[in-house]
Amino acid sequence: MNLEKLMNFPKWFGDWNKNNPTDIYGPVIVMGGLGGAVLVVIALFSFGQPFATDSLQTGPRGIGMSVPEFKSDLAKPDPTIAELDAIGNLDGDLIAAMQAWTGIPNLFEDPDSYQYAVGSMMISMTQNINENWAGHVNANGEVGVTCYTCHRGQPVPSEIWFSLMPVTERTAGWSANQNRATSLSQSTSLPSDALESYLLDSQTIGVHDLESRAAGIPGQDGHPGIQNAERTFSLMNYFANSLDVNCVFCHNSRAFYDAGQVTPQWATASLGILMVQELNNDYIVPAGGLLPENRLGPRNGDEPKVACATCHKGYQQPLQGTNVIGDWPQLQSTEEVVDLP
Ligand code: HEC
Ligand code: HEC
Ligand code: HEC
Repeated sequence: MNLEKLMNFPKWFGDWNKNNPTDIYGPVIVMGGLGGAVLVVIALFSFGQPFATDSLQTGPRGIGMSVPEFKSDLAKPDPTIAELDAIGNLDGDLIAAMQAWTGIPNLFEDPDSYQYAVGSMMISMTQNINENWAGHVNANGEVGVTCYTCHRGQPVPSEIWFSLMPVTERTAGWSANQNRATSLSQSTSLPSDALESYLLDSQTIGVHDLESRAAGIPGQDGHPGIQNAERTFSLMNYFANSLDVNCVFCHNSRAFYDAGQVTPQWATASLGILMVQELNNDYIVPAGGLLPENRLGPRNGDEPKVACATCHKGYQQPLQGTNVIGDWPQLQSTEEVVDLP
């Protein structure tokens, strides 16, 4: 079609236009690009940057000790907080609350049931956590722990763990601990026995010595060897995943080995290690005999055990630091006696 006729331009323009052919596509693409960019800028100003990051400072300024996080993730609330609000404080009726928190409607109705026995043990365990491990569970303010922190409305909490040893049967010794991606090795080839070595037993968490001619034999008498280093990294990956943080949340990355160059969160985590060892050894394992077989581990028939993620569930603070204990003085101290039906 003839542009000249269509637009009814004067003849001189048609002639001039024919003699001066111009590629209009280049400029159109440039103009379109510029226009688009202007629209994107306007959208960013009006609706905010979707990939904005915020950073949590974990050490002195200027040395890179901060944890960047997408703001959209930070604003994303933990959906279980809304469920907790929906349960409400049930007018201070602790028995009703414990039934709602564990999702066991007839909990404490039958004194002969194993759930009754395990439940009573769990009350003492929860009181002990709040009374004696306040340095961890109230590290930044009153937060505390109730049955809901672990259970979230389920009879058996999520993020419990069982021993998976040995992970390979064709090999013996050290090789039987590793080189198979499992939930306990954080899907790496690192050893799968880190939780049982460090959060049930209390073996030395540490990398092999930095000195080339250190006294002592690596792997013996508390001198960490290569195997301890591998296990340590397996545990540290577990920590990072349990809290959804990275290593510099707790460490200064130039000196992972130096406990003198760490963040306040490292100290909270150290207490957490001791707390979890106590929960497993003083409560969970001794009560394991009460459990029916269908609750026990698939590999070694052991009881479901606690670790960091059992409370944290992938959040830096369980329930994003909601104060869960304030309304429940009965669970705050081992001196309290909870009257069971
Ligand atoms: C630190 C985490 C944690 C807290 C806090 C906790 N529990 Fe548990 N609970 C567990 C684990 C792990 C199991 C599975 C192992 C077991 O049964 O011993 C469990 C199992 C149970 C069971 C057995 C359920 C079944 O059907 O096998 C009952 C009942 C129970 N808890 C009640 C409670 C009550 C009541 C509270 C609060 C007073 C509570 N728990 C607080 C971790 C916790
Ligand atoms: C939630 C806090 C936390 C996070 C996250 C964390 N660590 Fe650790 N890490 C600790 C604590 C606490 C210790 C000391 C444990 C002890 O000695 O009892 C430690 C010990 C170590 C050690 C042993 C140091 C020594 O004495 O030889 C290494 C290495 C290490 N961490 C590396 C890492 C790496 C790599 C990451 C990231 C994948 C990481 N950590 C993430 C808290 C953390
Ligand atoms: C019994 C439940 C429970 C277990 C198990 C647990 N934590 Fe915590 N942790 C908490 C609570 C509750 C807080 C929040 C304290 C606060 O903010 O006042 C917390 C806070 C922390 C913090 C501080 C976070 C911050 O923002 O300052 C770190 C680090 C931490 N836990 C690491 C660990 C590690 C590592 C483990 C496993 C070795 C662990 N926790 C096991 C309940 C638990």
